[in-house]
Amino acid sequence: MLTLKSINLKKEKTETIVIPVCEDKNIHTEKTIISLVEKARKIEQFKGRKNDELILYHPEDVGAPCVIFLGIGKAADADTEVWRVFASKAVKMGIKKELTSVSAVVPSAKKTGMEKNRLIESLSEGALLGNHRFDQYKKKKKLKPLKKINLLTAWNVTAELEKQTARTARICDGAIMAREWVSIPPNDKRPARFAKLIVKQAKKVNLKITVLKEKELKQKKCGAILAVAVGSQSKPRMIVLSYEPKNAKKTVALIGKGVTFDSGGINLKPTGSLDTMKMDMAGAAAVAATMITLARIKSDVKTVGVIPIVENMPSGHASRPGDIIKTYSGKTVEIGNTDAEGRLILADAMAYTIDLFKPDMMIDLATLTGACVAALGEKIAGVFSSDKKISDAIVTSGERTFERCWPLPLPEDYQKLLKSEFADIKNLSSSRWGGAITAALFLSEFVGDTPWAHIDIAGPAYIKKGDAYCGVGGTGFGVRLLCDLLPNL
Ligand code: BES
Ligand code: MN
Ligand code: ZN
Repeated sequence: MLTLKSINLKKEKTETIVIPVCEDKNIHTEKTIISLVEKARKIEQFKGRKNDELILYHPEDVGAPCVIFLGIGKAADADTEVWRVFASKAVKMGIKKELTSVSAVVPSAKKTGMEKNRLIESLSEGALLGNHRFDQYKKKKKLKPLKKINLLTAWNVTAELEKQTARTARICDGAIMAREWVSIPPNDKRPARFAKLIVKQAKKVNLKITVLKEKELKQKKCGAILAVAVGSQSKPRMIVLSYEPKNAKKTVALIGKGVTFDSGGINLKPTGSLDTMKMDMAGAAAVAATMITLARIKSDVKTVGVIPIVENMPSGHASRPGDIIKTYSGKTVEIGNTDAEGRLILADAMAYTIDLFKPDMMIDLATLTGACVAALGEKIAGVFSSDKKISDAIVTSGERTFERCWPLPLPEDYQKLLKSEFADIKNLSSSRWGGAITAALFLSEFVGDTPWAHIDIAGPAYIKKGDAYCGVGGTGFGVRLLCDLLPNL
């Protein structure tokens, strides 16, 4: 639980109060805070530099038994991300000390050069996301999340700010939902099970839900989804979620790649590339969690989410390199590599979505290529779109949320790399290079005239080492991005 409160240090009964301190400037207005900070600065080792820490026990005139000062560095460098990291650090220190509550002091918006609502939003995000850990599978939970987090402000909390913070909390819940799904081991989220997990949450918020099972996928001729799934014991699903607020003018479609485990299929991945492939449904998790969140925050954009879910496995039934399949669109595809499965299931899902909803715009999220990770590293997603407006809006939302996105091209002359001798197109490029681009170009064959953007999240969807406000596992990348983006499209 996150609460905004006006500062009253004498009465503040939380177990610990955390105060941010800049090295070059006072950033507070409240007198009791200023005098506490002055006291802290008298101690030689503490200068307010980045990562400086100082703990005072039982300071005078403070209700809480402990005050922690955290260095922020230079005030001018403190952007939204610095405030997310600060709030998360405050929460994590509380967790480590096995506390149940922490209060973080909000600096002056004016003195930090931030808008009040952006400052509160960043602090709330850092605190809420930093308070999450994935420990469903541990019998003994070593560290417990805080029960209560307060943000202490020097001003009166308005109803508007409270409303905004409730929205931020719902969006963080969504990101955490996605994180958990991605972190669940692959033996506990085979397609039918993962679909059920999504449907359970979608029902709670009254989304319109359709689940296509193997029989329906056959009827609808989703040959690509079926071809990827056929090697697995687990049957595929496709979930269609729709959120339809009244008076909405346009429809946005979101598509998420849902490969619950990507072994590579007959083109089996080598050791070292397999152990994290439970994360190959991160696009699906982001889209489903976003849809659920949109309903909870009462978004006014009509949005549909289409989520193909399969497991990519080798077996005697599996698709082979050389196989030719017929996709939903009618186009035939020669399978050049069974490990290029994401583009296949997306091809069916996207063409189906266009037929069913005729959306004004479509965005897909997918852990699609290792090549995108090679290009942009593990923290930045690639954006591909022939529509500059959509691509710019995505990059801007990426900056605002720090779910960073960077545009990459869709060069027409690369399309010929996907030529097949025997079918309409091949799922594998004839060149070793530019794999993120050729994957995106493959997808572009299935979107017709619909304005469309593809976000390759193979890098940022998952982390092997904990980060400032995200633990090991799924990152929930995409949920905060999309929630920020949708109203601006
Ligand atoms: N799921 C992978 C992409 C991936 C790689 C995600 C690393 C996260 C981290 C995708 O299905 C895949 O295997 N792509 C191949 C494509 C190739 C066979 C053309 C790749 O990137 O190597
Ligand atoms: Mn693959
Ligand atoms: Zn994959």
